[in-house]
Amino acid sequence: MKKRAAVIGYGGMGAGFHCQHISNSDVCELAGIYDIDPAKRALAASRGVKVYDSREALLADPTIDMVTVATPNDVHEEIAVAALKAGKHVISEKPVTLSMESLERMIAAANAAGRIFSVHQNRRFDVDALAMKQLHDSGEIGEVIDLESRIHGSRGIPSDWRGMKEYGGGMLYDWGVHIIDQACMILGYDVKSVRCSFDHITNQEVDDGFRLWIEYASGQKAYLEVGTYNFIAMPRFYMRATKGSAIITDWRVPAHVVKCKAWHESDVLPVVNASGLTKTMAPRDSVTVDEYDLPRPVSDVHDYYRNFVRAMDGLEEQMVTHDQMRCVLRIILSAFRSAETGEAVVW
Ligand SMILES: NC(=O)c1ccc[n+]([C@@H]2O[C@H](COP(=O)([O-])OP(=O)(O)OC[C@H]3O[C@@H](n4cnc5c(N)ncnc54)[C@H](O)[C@@H]3O)[C@@H](O)[C@H]2O)c1
Repeated sequence: MKKRAAVIGYGGMGAGFHCQHISNSDVCELAGIYDIDPAKRALAASRGVKVYDSREALLADPTIDMVTVATPNDVHEEIAVAALKAGKHVISEKPVTLSMESLERMIAAANAAGRIFSVHQNRRFDVDALAMKQLHDSGEIGEVIDLESRIHGSRGIPSDWRGMKEYGGGMLYDWGVHIIDQACMILGYDVKSVRCSFDHITNQEVDDGFRLWIEYASGQKAYLEVGTYNFIAMPRFYMRATKGSAIITDWRVPAHVVKCKAWHESDVLPVVNASGLTKTMAPRDSVTVDEYDLPRPVSDVHDYYRNFVRAMDGLEEQMVTHDQMRCVLRIILSAFRSAETGEAVVW
């Protein structure tokens, strides 16, 4: 039988993603919504969605098994903890919350209630990130040395709550949490240090972009960048490994791989470029490298809710674990500290 899922927060993500996604799900059905804004409640009702008059009324409905929290970031904790205390399983939108203490209170509430509590890291299903993970895990181009991940737009930070500190605004919390989570999905969670610097081009109150360096205990490095003032977008992913390199120029195109099959070349021809001549930077040819596009990984974002429901039934571990949530939030909080002090935060 399908689980009955309710959504709190009927805005862009609540209405535009979760309600539709749940309605099209093979594991849950939409029980109803609550939003603090009467206009949003009226909108939902006009679409035939069951609307609760208060959060308390929604949480008191015994037919509801699970609640997705899709409100601005500053109230995730308050709503998630209330839902867990009411015996509901809870998915919080990302970023899960804004401090380690807050996250620990959420986890404690879940443990006390014996309910599943996770965060919606839906971008683990992006095929570009999955292609990078596949290259990392398969060793197809050797051991990964470093990974670069960038998201660039040119419209500045949105003018809604995302531009305000009190709501947990800023691009580090907004897009940063996705690309940090993806980097950890690919390179792991054993972080050694974090360094960050912020952009304040269209907003002085919160970061409207950032540059973030993560060093892992393995020696691998990740460089992550979000920009909202980039009229030319740089490649989405770039990976260097011991036997090759890979690039994804845009999330619509597959990973392009250049794989080294012979390190030494007997007769490197010097190239003349700009005002000089170089052998070091001469491009390789097909004698020493293979070039190809990686087939796109298969991915279905519905697997997030499928996994959550199977975790509710005790059939699977939840895919976004509490420890992973802790690590990603700790990277974000370390990045804030580093951006403020100008120094790396060593774990
Ligand atoms: N995972 C993703 O891909 C993704 C994408 C976009 C947004 N998000 C996340 O989803 C959340 C919501 O973002 P959004 O873009 O939908 O914002 P939004 O402003 O469009 O919608 C938020 C809604 O929450 C309501 N709300 C505010 N406080 C509330 C409260 N106390 N109780 C009930 N309702 C309340 C607002 O009235 C509004 O309708 C954020 O945490 C954001 O980071 C995730």
